[in-house]
Amino acid sequence: MKTSAEMTDAELRQEIARLKKEKNALIMAHYYTRDEIQEIADFIGDSLALARQAAKTNADIIVMCGVHFMGETAKILCPDKKVLVPDEAAGCSLADSCDAAEFEKFVKARPDHTVISYVNTSAAVKAVTDIVVTSGNARKIIESLPKEEKIIFGPDKNLGGYINAVTGRNMVLWPGACHVHDRFSIDRIMELKKEHPEAKILVHPECRRPLQLIADKVGSTAALLDFAQNDDAPEYIVVTESGILFEMRRKCPTKKFIPAPAEDAECQCNECDYMKLNTLRKVYEALKNETPEINVDKEIAEKALRPIERMLELS
Ligand code: 13P
Ligand code: SF4
Repeated sequence: MKTSAEMTDAELRQEIARLKKEKNALIMAHYYTRDEIQEIADFIGDSLALARQAAKTNADIIVMCGVHFMGETAKILCPDKKVLVPDEAAGCSLADSCDAAEFEKFVKARPDHTVISYVNTSAAVKAVTDIVVTSGNARKIIESLPKEEKIIFGPDKNLGGYINAVTGRNMVLWPGACHVHDRFSIDRIMELKKEHPEAKILVHPECRRPLQLIADKVGSTAALLDFAQNDDAPEYIVVTESGILFEMRRKCPTKKFIPAPAEDAECQCNECDYMKLNTLRKVYEALKNETPEINVDKEIAEKALRPIERMLELS
């Protein structure tokens, strides 16, 4: 019997398909994962779609190919299911920019505020939150609250700033950011636009405000994909993690998608190294050994469930 390191990609794919059937498992993948992961996934989506799908699946095992908080969200929604992540080290710099104890102090200092947290947070942060949001529903959910409601928004300052700008709110922002989205270079994107004058600029709201202002569309990964599918431009400069280009090219084979460069020309800074930790070999090992498994402290999970459910009800 070959070890997984000796198996070819075709053999890994075959074994993954066999184990998936045998164990009634569902493989879910975020748009930022490697192409070969998106190819084998039963379901691909943005963080909102992944949460929705987890809430309604009949599978016994969920293999969450994304990052840790996505596995935690699935486990909180489905405590009786086994939730596996192919690599435990797949964290999130944005979630890490919001320490739960510090966030709780921030919240306690503002007792008259409603607490809204982006889904890119630990379960412990969600446990001190009133409503969880994703980039796909943040605007809609915040607009559903009375105009005068005082709101804390964490942890992404760029997404929070975007919502403040488009809704006229004055939410108090936690100063967190994502290491991928926060370092796209406006100068290099403007140079690209000169080379491709017909290209439209698609920007994720985790990017800084100047980039949001030059965008033809600001939106979650799913919203950017949807825009490209329903728009008639021949080219797009895509200012988000470059994994989304796989699905954009698949859905719009006649259009050209150009990944936006980051500030540092030397590095692959438009890639999320955490998302790329998901590989075929690790998916196979996770399914075979049923590990690493996500478990969330019972008390924290109970407190975190309500704000996630409120998000699903409101979006
Ligand atoms: P989406 O909500 O667009 O899936 O984004 C999640 C994420 O991690 C962005 O960096
Ligand atoms: Fe987190 Fe940024 Fe990676 Fe998204 S792209 S998972 S926000 S580190």
